[in-house]
Amino acid sequence: MTDPTVARVLLVGFMGSGKSSVGRRVAEALGWRFVDFDDVIEARFEMPVAEIFATHGERLFREAETEVAVRLLAEHRVVLASGGGWAAQPGRLDSLPPGTVAIWLQVGADEALRRASAERGTRPLLAGVNRLDDARKLLADRVRFYSSAGWSVDTERSSVEDVAARVLRILAEIETETDAE
Ligand code: S3P
Repeated sequence: MTDPTVARVLLVGFMGSGKSSVGRRVAEALGWRFVDFDDVIEARFEMPVAEIFATHGERLFREAETEVAVRLLAEHRVVLASGGGWAAQPGRLDSLPPGTVAIWLQVGADEALRRASAERGTRPLLAGVNRLDDARKLLADRVRFYSSAGWSVDTERSSVEDVAARVLRILAEIETETDAE
């Protein structure tokens, strides 16, 4: 077999799409590292995301997110969970370093909110009074960006295990196709 074609896996998608839980499982199965963008940013600021938004503002959070992403996207044998807003900016998924497999974990706004409310208070962008309306609008605005990922997996009615298995199958298919070339 030639060198692995896939150097890193980048999970993108809306809040509550399962990027972190699926990413952790995929990394475990591959024997790779798992890194969540938000965890790195929280460690840098020494405070949770909601507090970074409240204290420093979203703009500073986004600047940190941009820097963290550039650094992580240079690493090998790593599964990355991006924050839901990172990929939702023009060009983000169009110029990824070679060897990056970007996979969009799809979820609807209602299901995303249901999952997010199990982790109350962690997502400042879903903290408003009209949460469902806000989530639907935000998701509708972002779908065109997420859909630039090369692959997608519908997570709506699937368990974390099933989604992780689907991601692993995509990676195996990519490696097989490249070996055959
Ligand atoms: C955000 C998503 C969050 C976190 C921050 C902003 C967004 O990450 O980065 O609250 O803009 O969608 P998750 O997608 O991991 O919840």
